[in-house]
Amino acid sequence: MTDRVLDINDIQGNVLGGFNTDIQELVALTVVDAADFQRAAAWAASLSPAVTTVSQVRAQREAMKSSAATVSPWLCVGIGQRLLSKTQFDVLIRDDAFNNGMAKRAPSVLGDKSDPSGWRVGGTQAPVDVLLIVASNDEAVAASRAQDLETSALTAGMSATYRETLRRLDDREHFGFRDGISQPQVAGFDDLGELQPGNFLFGYPKDAGSDPFWPVVDPRGLTDNGSLLVFRRLAQDVGAFRAFCAAEAMRLAPQWPGLTADLLGALIVGRWQSGTPVATGQTRDPGQFPPSNDFDFKGDPDGASCPLGAHIRKINPRNGPKDVLEVPRILRRGVPFGPLYDAAPQDDRGLAFLAFQSSVKSQFEFLTQHWMNSALNPGRGNDLLVGRSDGALRTMQIQSPAGPIQISAPVADWIKPTGGAYLFAPSRSGLAKFGTPPAALGLWKAHQLWAITFDAVKQSLFER
Ligand code: HEM
Repeated sequence: MTDRVLDINDIQGNVLGGFNTDIQELVALTVVDAADFQRAAAWAASLSPAVTTVSQVRAQREAMKSSAATVSPWLCVGIGQRLLSKTQFDVLIRDDAFNNGMAKRAPSVLGDKSDPSGWRVGGTQAPVDVLLIVASNDEAVAASRAQDLETSALTAGMSATYRETLRRLDDREHFGFRDGISQPQVAGFDDLGELQPGNFLFGYPKDAGSDPFWPVVDPRGLTDNGSLLVFRRLAQDVGAFRAFCAAEAMRLAPQWPGLTADLLGALIVGRWQSGTPVATGQTRDPGQFPPSNDFDFKGDPDGASCPLGAHIRKINPRNGPKDVLEVPRILRRGVPFGPLYDAAPQDDRGLAFLAFQSSVKSQFEFLTQHWMNSALNPGRGNDLLVGRSDGALRTMQIQSPAGPIQISAPVADWIKPTGGAYLFAPSRSGLAKFGTPPAALGLWKAHQLWAITFDAVKQSLFER
């Protein structure tokens, strides 16, 4: 149990539980003229009654069990740091990843070699001030709602700098692997929830019995029940990934007769395409459904079963002996964009990676920088699927029947970041407060403002 009952009538439904609809429209809005920030904040606040809460998603899901009703479009709203700081000057979220933004942090922290000025979304020319996620099971319904919101945002001085339709591809990502299997279970929300909600929401403890995690200056309670959202647009080169697996399987055939491209791909991910976790001695996908998530790596210290560099093991070492005590967890809500590779090989496709947490710096960024992109931690070997390196070859070890074999990915990555943003996802009541600017500056407020400015300068200078 958690110490504070979750406010499910206030928390956004995409944070806990997730929308998980067939269709999601992503709309990124940017304030065009500096004089319009206040208007934009008031517009965002006006969306508050339309934001879909956890309890509404639950109720609609229940109703859909007995009838094939269309999801009346659900809405999730994220606010960019620029809009927050320019309009709510009494509020500071102490997270220097969020405060500096993804475009600034991508090259230094995320190991991203792409130039943010050329990003499809969230680049230096078009920071994301508001991100809308409109969800439905009906494409026309989602598109029409997204269009209405886009048109209405124009009247508040914002322009839509990005819009994209995300489609759930039978719960697979574009390389063909089942995704969204392993999610942290949240105490007070999931039946067997163990992780305290403070790992994902402001105003709740991170550990049972501890003080609420709420790293903010916020006299008006605007951040209570809020969360931090990472959006990263990752283009996937399916042809390159498939070609690599096929060529490597052929190259390694003399050492490992019977090694297939499918098995190699599974070892890189740590799960077969069906989602079944890899295990020693398997030669083909066991096709388990639902795929198991009840396992750990305690009995597999050297990666004989699941390679130490496999994506799922790099990012969640599950009590492997080389494990660290604390594994940062994130609530993943990503959905693919673009058509299936076999239907249109030349088209743009990939994963709109979306994840909620209460600290971008110590969750998403930590996982990316210190584990996914590292050749040494938490277990030796690179994450060949998503990890990056500073130009050096990315290498992992797999265990063949004849002994260990090294495989290296080419320097050109098959996953290319093409934009994104760090956002604050307020609760419904928190969003409403964006419409009422902080009261006039009194003496104590001036003091507070000084504290915020000092904090922000300190964070940007010393805490990278
Ligand atoms: C296009 C890029 C990516 C692809 C294709 C991909 C694919 C996958 C697949 C197939 C799984 C296994 C299914 C599951 O457990 O749900 C998985 C798990 C996971 N991925 Fe990714 N992923 C991508 C990017 C990322 C990024 C950027 C992060 C975060 C930094 C991430 C974090 C995770 C986590 C936390 C898990 C669950 C691990 C576990 O608990 O077992 N992934 N991913």
